[in-house]
Amino acid sequence: MALYSEKVMDHFRNPRNVGSIENADGIGEVGNAKCGDIMKIYLKIDDEKISDVKFETFGCGSAIASSSMATEMIKGKNLSEVMKITNKAVTEALDGLPAHKLHCSVLAEEAIQAAVKDYCKKNNREFNFV
Ligand code: FES
Repeated sequence: MALYSEKVMDHFRNPRNVGSIENADGIGEVGNAKCGDIMKIYLKIDDEKISDVKFETFGCGSAIASSSMATEMIKGKNLSEVMKITNKAVTEALDGLPAHKLHCSVLAEEAIQAAVKDYCKKNNREFNFV
């Protein structure tokens, strides 16, 4: 069996939503100290909904595929839905990742949460979602 699914390879080769957003409403940057990879997520939020999202990932192929898939998954969603997206959901949407690459999808979950947190801080909104 191939180490990486077709979906991982597709999102790695043709990543969606790459780039940055000027005047983003929320920015989240996280890294993994062990591998040194860094992921940055930019959110444009209108009426508590993700109207645009971009990412910059300096990291491995699985991190790029995870960022690409995660950004696709949160587009158009409201913040409570976004906060429920876990690395497990991202991994499943990618049809799996090898065990030693699961931390790459954790970066996507953490970067999104950090970006939402940043948005809340800038808007004096409680970081509290039901
Ligand atoms: Fe660290 Fe993929 S090897 S994010």
